Amino acid sequence: MFPGHVRIVEMGPRDGLQNEARPVSVATRIALVEALADAGLRSIETGSFVSPKWVPQMAGTAEVLAGLTPRPGVDYPVLVPNLKGLEAALAAGTREIAVFGAASESFSRANINCSIAESLERFAPVVERALAAGLRVRGYVSCVLGCPYEGAVSPEAVARVAAALAGMGCYEVSLGDTIGTGTPLAARRMVEVVAEHVPLERLALHFHDTYGQALANILACLELGVSVVDSAVAGLGGCPYAKGASGNVATEDVVYMLDGMGIGTGVDLPRLAAAGRMICVALEREPASRVARALAAKTNEWEVQEPQVPGG
Ligand code: HMG
Ligand code: MG
Repeated sequence: MFPGHVRIVEMGPRDGLQNEARPVSVATRIALVEALADAGLRSIETGSFVSPKWVPQMAGTAEVLAGLTPRPGVDYPVLVPNLKGLEAALAAGTREIAVFGAASESFSRANINCSIAESLERFAPVVERALAAGLRVRGYVSCVLGCPYEGAVSPEAVARVAAALAGMGCYEVSLGDTIGTGTPLAARRMVEVVAEHVPLERLALHFHDTYGQALANILACLELGVSVVDSAVAGLGGCPYAKGASGNVATEDVVYMLDGMGIGTGVDLPRLAAAGRMICVALEREPASRVARALAAKTNEWEVQEPQVPGG
């Protein structure tokens, strides 16, 4: 039974840009977030307060947040790995943060330099303080369908971390196929096992498209009733600690599929694709989205104001 509406959590400005080699100015990052909001996205992950030595692309997140024109009903969540990150996020006026753990020990070590157990110990006071300050907190689990270092990851290992994050007070837990190796039946099985510990309504799908399986995996899990999907405009992204990982599933591809199924998203596809073209001009790359490429051939049929790269 498919949901009637899917909430899309846009990853382009964070998961996307964090893995692009080409630096993107604060002004362009702001323009991207605004263009995504213009397209109807209501949850736009805008950056992260992590060590700039680990992820230099996300330096300047406070300036990006400061430069946005807040809109009612639009959330601009940011990633926070520890209390230092939370302090910075609070100082920047953030209303929503996300903590990020992993289902595999080796990936946890590579990504945040600690074991899974240590990461959960580290997140607990972050979540507690954030909730006390009135923030909303989301949680991520990486490597839910495979690890770049360890290979197979059991659904039970995913469920343990997801349950811990939900138990701390994360309103939603996003399940990350970081390296995009999952296939539909494995994805569905993983969600079924996790849903024995965390209610299905509190789960989100975060699938990278490295092996071209993301849409199929999403479809298989939507059928279970999951109704939140993470995706990145133009299929930007990847992960600096997962060699060879390519971007998140493209938002254009997800919206096109859901439009065709009569499932509402509130996202305007032509405007979304225009936002994708703008950031691809800035990055000097082609959109990874098949839908975006197909639509680009027909842009003169639309009456869309093309967003421009600031100063470009
Ligand atoms: P560490 O080196 O163990 O930390 O890194 P530390 O506490 O020893 O601090 C080392 C230095 O970092 C110090 O600076 C700290 O001040 C600084 P120094 O004294 O050397 O000048 N530092 C910070 N600076 C800014 N903001 C902070 C912060 N914390 C410490 N919050 C740490 C541990 C977690 C900080 C580091 O490993 C890190 O920043 N990792 C982030 C990695 C990351 O952002 N990965 C990508 C996001 S996760 C992802 O993409 C997956 C996801 O999309 C889901 C999926 O697809 O699976 C969510
Ligand atoms: Mg990711």
